[in-house]
Amino acid sequence: MNSIAVVGSINMDLVVETDISPKMGQTILGNNFFMSPGGKGANQAVAAARLGGNICIFGSLGRDENGMQMKSNLQKEGIEIKHINYVENVPTGVAVIELCSNDNRIIVVQGANNFTNITYLEKVKEELLSFDVIIMQMEIPIEAIEYIVSFLYENKKTIVLNPAPALPLKKELIEKVTYITPNEHEYKIILNTEENMEEALRRYPNKLIVTQGSQGVKYFDGANIITVPCIKVEAIDTTGAGDTFSGAFSVAISEGRSLFESISFANIAAGISVTQKGAQGGMPKREAVDRVFNITEEK
Ligand code: RIB
Repeated sequence: MNSIAVVGSINMDLVVETDISPKMGQTILGNNFFMSPGGKGANQAVAAARLGGNICIFGSLGRDENGMQMKSNLQKEGIEIKHINYVENVPTGVAVIELCSNDNRIIVVQGANNFTNITYLEKVKEELLSFDVIIMQMEIPIEAIEYIVSFLYENKKTIVLNPAPALPLKKELIEKVTYITPNEHEYKIILNTEENMEEALRRYPNKLIVTQGSQGVKYFDGANIITVPCIKVEAIDTTGAGDTFSGAFSVAISEGRSLFESISFANIAAGISVTQKGAQGGMPKREAVDRVFNITEEK
């Protein structure tokens, strides 16, 4: 079976639904509150696990109530948790999420995720070599990402980096990852550029994959800019759509599918994921994605 390691964050999401977003200094009344499992790393692990991947997560939790809940959620999803780093006297990461007008604003407090650092990765790095694909995001320290990407690159591993939350990245880091999946805002930040998307895509053929929500996904195949369309759905909550894309994309790549097919598969999974609340709430099972994927392929 295809195997995928996720090196990344695990958070408890604290979600508030509201009709209006408060201005600085203003207090408003919200409509609803819920807590649900999140963190870009955990979300991508769950997305991949539901699609049939053999998934192991490398990340950190505090020894608090949120940490225990996140651990049992990952176990329930069939994700291998034996490498999780438990940090004493540090809270598990949390994300405060405001859902308003079909969009979201997110503030992440990294907490234990800061301990998915070089010291931890030095201990587990050899384990990572047994996986077909390694997925990362950027809610853990950037030095840790640079360190482990260099190690995996030297060992010729397939690396998928979802550069969120975005910050300017070193050129060597971008060169060493196999695929990088920013959205239409993040690509400018990570490349530290004002160039338009097409120019940026042409610099990184078959590597830079820009997601654009309902506008689909773009990449340069070495000859043409390719747009892979999304499926049409009624979005309820877009939190975690990018994570579903990354997880699903990695599953398809680990199965040896082409870049175009892998993006199409991931677009379907991400499309379905936004039809329910919570970052992981709408992440689909394999049958649901295959049903649409097979129909699309037959056309
Ligand atoms: O991508 C969505 C995720 O971002 C949320 O689950 C939240 O935890 C933040 O990490």
